[in-house]
Amino acid sequence: MSNFPSDKPVLVTCGLPYANGKCHIGHLRTYVPGDIFVRSLRKQGQEAVFVCGSDAHGTPIVVNAEELKITPTELVNKYHKHFESIFKAMEVEFSIFGNTDSPTNHARTNSIVEALIDRGYVYPRVIRLAYCPYDERFLPDRYVEGICPYCAKPARGDECDQGCGKHLEPGEIKNAKCRICGNPAEYREQEHFFFKLSSFGGFLSDYLKTLGGTSNAINYAKEWAKELKDWCITRNLEWGVRFPGHEDLVVYVWVDAPIGYISFTEEWAKKTGGDWEKYWRRDSRIIHFIGEDITYHHCIFWPAMLKGAGYTPPWAVVASGMLKIDDKKFSKSRGYVVWVDEDYLDHGFHPDLLRYYIANYTSHTKELNFSWKVFQDKVNNELVGALGNFLHRTQHFAQKNFGAVPDGKVDKEILEKIKVTIETVVAALDEYEFKKATDAMMELAAYGNSYFQSREPWALIKTDKDECARVVKNCLQIGKALILLFEPTLPGNMEKAWKQLRIPGDVHSARFEDALIEIPAGELKVPEILFTKIEDKKIKEMEAILDKRIKIAMSKEKKHEEEAKEEKTEITYEEFQKLDIRVGKVLSAEPIKGSDKLLKLEVDIGEKRQIVAGIAKSHDPSELVGRQVVVMANMKPAKLFGVESRGMVLAADVEGAVLLMPEKEVKEGTRVR
Ligand code: 2FM
Ligand code: ZN
Repeated sequence: MSNFPSDKPVLVTCGLPYANGKCHIGHLRTYVPGDIFVRSLRKQGQEAVFVCGSDAHGTPIVVNAEELKITPTELVNKYHKHFESIFKAMEVEFSIFGNTDSPTNHARTNSIVEALIDRGYVYPRVIRLAYCPYDERFLPDRYVEGICPYCAKPARGDECDQGCGKHLEPGEIKNAKCRICGNPAEYREQEHFFFKLSSFGGFLSDYLKTLGGTSNAINYAKEWAKELKDWCITRNLEWGVRFPGHEDLVVYVWVDAPIGYISFTEEWAKKTGGDWEKYWRRDSRIIHFIGEDITYHHCIFWPAMLKGAGYTPPWAVVASGMLKIDDKKFSKSRGYVVWVDEDYLDHGFHPDLLRYYIANYTSHTKELNFSWKVFQDKVNNELVGALGNFLHRTQHFAQKNFGAVPDGKVDKEILEKIKVTIETVVAALDEYEFKKATDAMMELAAYGNSYFQSREPWALIKTDKDECARVVKNCLQIGKALILLFEPTLPGNMEKAWKQLRIPGDVHSARFEDALIEIPAGELKVPEILFTKIEDKKIKEMEAILDKRIKIAMSKEKKHEEEAKEEKTEITYEEFQKLDIRVGKVLSAEPIKGSDKLLKLEVDIGEKRQIVAGIAKSHDPSELVGRQVVVMANMKPAKLFGVESRGMVLAADVEGAVLLMPEKEVKEGTRVR
């Protein structure tokens, strides 16, 4: 028995792309199978709403907009349009493609966060956070870089991206540096708000027993549910959805992003006269298509949040495996990337070809490797050689010899073969196994080819025209079945094939089971060729583009490494001479309001200088007065906590800063060499 159609309302979502960069094949690994799945549901008579949209918030978007000197809204709008047009071009048809910065999403997020607060699932806690004294601001998430506390690899504020991959809570990162100015950050205390995830352990362990989807998501989630930490759900940012009652805080992007799934459904309902609550407030089947890397958010955090606020949690989470390019880990910075516009669509490749590759290369949960050579092989051998060849040769033969679909009945054996194929395809789709499904379809095409070959209609037409008509009719019936089965994967080409066969009705709304309805007799035209072979020359051209990008990225990386090395190379005496280091005497010292680390000093270095020093934790202002110190006098002036600093007091870089001082007293202003 298949899962669909079901009498419960079905809603399918795809992970929201950050409106922060262009669409690449990695994105399509989720969206194309999501789209194939929804089209297949409809082919099984299942109505389904399909929602997605731009993820507009979070620090990377603010950081990026700041670098580009545009507003976050401008940046988001630009990429929102980009994704919308790419999805259209790739035949990914959402019922709605929203934006998490919409008023509906702000309102829905507010209402959910308030519900969580009212139900006692949110509490305040004072935490230590990275703070930049130069920029005078807290440094949420990507605003800070440092060292992972778990594996000691370089990491970003919210994620150990180069090491163990752990999510980092605010304040966890070690050796924090500000991303804006590069200076070491300090830690400061501030009140933030936490979601009591730890109190959902019982719910999650039961829930995960019934959650459908792919094993790669659910098995991990079951382990994670055994040990739950509360989540800090507020950030010091202006861009985002305000945390109720706190003007200086927004909610963490991972709160308002998945709520986008709900608010987009609301927007869709408003437009179409539908009812969003039947999906999110009552018994329904919500199916999330996501990338494997965001499983925690969708299988742990999100269901707990929905449960806590009184909404329906997902029925299934379908996680796609990761992407490789030429057997190397996908990486934009290292050049291992294929952009959907400039590297694919702009070269005139039909979207169906890549859709087929994504569906058929490997199981949905495994790593997918993209290479132009394999792309060429799959197109030339499978789409051109098997499917295209069968559809074309049979229709061509029918048109040439009969001018029409011949009269007569289709063989039982042929209808049985089609029926079994439909069952195999539907069973595979129930397991989100797009490779199994498309393999079964290709197997039907191969069956058709060998049927045609073995019956030799070109000989029969001369000896037994009736028998020939029977064979041709059977072939055309297999053709009809192939078109219906492949429509979700190859919507553009199958629409064309359907029209060529002159079958009444719309291929997109026809059902799989219609493949068993005999193809009506009727006039045929000379069919056009659907798929054409990709030449070696084109593949070489595409490989050269990728190679060039990788080479450029490698030379950039090398340059960076060399620059980093240069920083530590030896310097000449002349270079050393540029440093104006002098002995000085501390005239006064006082704390700086709001900082527990900094002191404001007045130092005589032959002239009076105001210097801010990070020594408050180790030195009492009163014991400093009258002491001699060593000062870098030609430091660029800087402002710390609004206090100007013109110079730097030298100290050994150990915990509790040990100040340098001359062996015996010398005149203030004496140069150090
Ligand atoms: O990881 C990402 O790309 C996120 N933008 C996905 C968000 S999905 C959803 F939960 F909003
Ligand atoms: Zn780590």
